[in-house]
Amino acid sequence: MTALRRLMLMAVAASVLIVVGTSPAAAHPTLLSTTPQAGYAVPTEPTAITLVFDEPVTVDPNGVRLVDESKKAIHTSTVRREQSGRRLVLQVLGDLAPGRYIVRWQVTAQDGDVVDSAFDFAVATNSAGLSGQDQAGTGGVPLAVVLRWLLFLALAGVIGGVIGQQLARRAGPVAFQPRSSVRPAALVGLLAAAGLFIDLLRTGGPGRAANLIGLEAVGLATVAVMANRRWWLTMTPALAVVVVEAFRNHLGTRYGVIGAVVIAVHLAAAATWVGALVHLLRVAYANRGRAVRIRSMFAAYARRALVLFLTVAATGTIGALLLVPTFDDLTTTRYGQVLIAKLALVLIVAGLAWTARRRLGTLDNRPVSDPSEPAPVARTARIEATVLVSILAVTATLVSLPTPAPATEDLGYPPPATGPVIRLGTLAGQIAVGIAASQNQLEIRLRTPDDRVQTGDAEPPTFHVTAQLSTSPTPLVLRPCGPGCFLSPVGWRETTQELNLRVEADTWHGGTSDIPISWPPKPNTTLLPRIVAAMRAQKSIHIAEAVTSDTSRPSPPTRQLTTDGPEFLESEPYGSTPSLDVTLLPATNGRTTLAFGLPAEGIQGRLELDPSYRITREILTAPKHQITRTFAYPR
Ligand code: HEM
Repeated sequence: MTALRRLMLMAVAASVLIVVGTSPAAAHPTLLSTTPQAGYAVPTEPTAITLVFDEPVTVDPNGVRLVDESKKAIHTSTVRREQSGRRLVLQVLGDLAPGRYIVRWQVTAQDGDVVDSAFDFAVATNSAGLSGQDQAGTGGVPLAVVLRWLLFLALAGVIGGVIGQQLARRAGPVAFQPRSSVRPAALVGLLAAAGLFIDLLRTGGPGRAANLIGLEAVGLATVAVMANRRWWLTMTPALAVVVVEAFRNHLGTRYGVIGAVVIAVHLAAAATWVGALVHLLRVAYANRGRAVRIRSMFAAYARRALVLFLTVAATGTIGALLLVPTFDDLTTTRYGQVLIAKLALVLIVAGLAWTARRRLGTLDNRPVSDPSEPAPVARTARIEATVLVSILAVTATLVSLPTPAPATEDLGYPPPATGPVIRLGTLAGQIAVGIAASQNQLEIRLRTPDDRVQTGDAEPPTFHVTAQLSTSPTPLVLRPCGPGCFLSPVGWRETTQELNLRVEADTWHGGTSDIPISWPPKPNTTLLPRIVAAMRAQKSIHIAEAVTSDTSRPSPPTRQLTTDGPEFLESEPYGSTPSLDVTLLPATNGRTTLAFGLPAEGIQGRLELDPSYRITREILTAPKHQITRTFAYPR
C-alpha cells in the first residue's frame, strides 16, 4: 500500500468516525426557539425575527438573512446580539406578503465552530381551520367582530346614505328630509377602524393588515370632513375605503387584485342596498303624518335593489367558491357554517324584497301616514333592513374566521397549536418524523437528510404519508400544510392510542413506525431541572450508544463511552436550558418517562429515569439520525 493510499484510507476512516460519533446536538449551539415560531404561520407580518440559542454565540452583522420562497432577500437590519449572545434579533424592514419565508443563519459557537442552518415560517396563510375550532379562541375575536360590524354599518350609512338622499328627492319637494347620516356614520366608521387598528397592533403588531385599516381610518376621516358637500366629494373617499377594505379581506389577501375587485363590488353593492333602504325608511318615518307620497321613492329603490341583489349574489357566490374549496367544508368548518347562516338570512331578505316589490305594484300613491293604509311597504322594508343589518353582523363574524384549508392546495404552515402539545419523534427509514399532538389536531413533520430543503436551496421531496390511529377503523385525513407538514383533525380518546405511520419520499427510503400517543397531555416543568442536577452530579457514566441514519438497514453496532455528568450535559440539547416544554409519558417498565421537542431544530427526545432522576435510556431523533443510549452508573 502506497503512503498516499494509506493517507486516503485514514482520512476516510476519520470522516466515518466523525459522522457516526457526532450526536445531533454534539457540543454545538442548539437553536432553542425562534419568533416567528419555526415551521408555523403568523397571521400578520412580523416586525422582528429572533433566534434563541442554548449558549452564547457570536455572529457576523449579516449572519442572519431573511429570504422569500424564491430566495429573494428581504430588507432587514443587521443582527443585534442580546443576553450575552444567546439571543439574536433582526428587524424586518421590507414588506412580507403572504407566503413562506426562510431565515438562514450562521453563528460561531464558543469553541470557535461555525454552525449554519435555516428555519422557515409563513405569513398570513390559511392552512388552519381544519376543524374550524383551532383558531376560534384568539382572544380578541369578539371585539374585532363588533368593530367590523360597526365598520360595515358605517360604510352602508355613508354610501347608501348618499344614494338614498338622491332617491328621496323623488318623493317631491314637499318631502321632509331627515338629517344626513353621512357624517355620523363616517365618525362611527372612523372609531371602528381606529379600534381595529389598535386591536391588530395589540394582537399581531404592525403589518399589512394594520396599515390597511389605518388607511381606512384616514379615508373615513376624509368622508367626515367632506360630508354635506357635493355628493362625489363624499363618495370618492368612501369608495377608496371600500377598495382598501377589499385588499384587506380574505379574498384580496389571497387572490390579489382579482379577489379585491370581486369583494369591492360586493361590498359597495351591499352597502348601497342596506344604506339606501335605511335612509328611505328614515324619510318615510320623518314624513309620517304628512301627505307625502312615498311610492315613487320606494319604486325607484326597488328597481335598483334588484340589480344590487343580483350583483351582491353573483360576487358573493364567486367569493364563496374561491374561499370554500369543498362542499364538505360548508358543514365541517366554522367558516362554512357561518356562511350557511348568512345564506339563510340572504334567502329571507330576498323573500322580503320580493314581497315589498309586489306590494308596490298594488299600492297607489297614498301617503305613508294615511290611517286607512298601514303602509305595508314601509313595514316590509323595515323588516328587510333589520335582516340586512343582521347579515352584516354575520358577515363580520365570517371575515374574522379563518377560511377552510384548501383540500389539495398547500398554502403554507398552520398557526402554532394552542394548549398543551405532546411532541414525539422517530426515524422511519431515512425520514425523520416529528409528531405534535394537540387539542383536536395531529401535526406530522417530515424531514429528509437533505439540508438544502431547509435552506430553500432544494425543492422538498414529494412525501406519501398514511396515518391511522389504533382507536379508529379508518385512516386519518391528512392535509398538506407546507413542506413536509401534514395536519389532521383528531378526536383524541383518553387512553394510549397507537399512531401507525407509513412514510415514503421520492428519493429517500421511507418506512413504517408505531408511535404511542397518550391523551391527555401531561405538561411538566419540574422534572428536567431535577434531571440536569442529578446528571451533573455524576462522576462517571457508562453509555452504550447506537446511532442510525436509516432504520431500514440492520441495527448499527453499539459503541461504549465513559464520561462524567458535566461533559455529558454539554452535548445535550437540554443541558444548559432545563426549561424546555416537557410532557410526561406513561411509565416504561415502571420508570418515569418524558418527552420533549425542539421544533426549530427538528429534534425530539425521550428520556427514561431511575428514582434518583438519572437517565437510564435516551432516544434522540434529529433530521439525520436517531441516537439510542442506555446508561449505567458505576458506584
Ligand atoms: C348570495 C349571497 C351572498 C354570498 C354568497 C356572500 C358571500 C360572501 C363572501 C364569501 C364574502 C367574503 C368573506 C371573507 O372575506 O371571508 C362576503 C363578504 C361580505 N359580504 Fe356577502 N355574500 C352574500 C350576500 C351578502 C349580502 C346580502 C350582504 C349585505 C347585507 C353582504 C355583505 C357582505 C359584506 C359587508 C362583506 C365583507 C367585505 C369585507 O370584508 O370587507 N353579503 N360575502
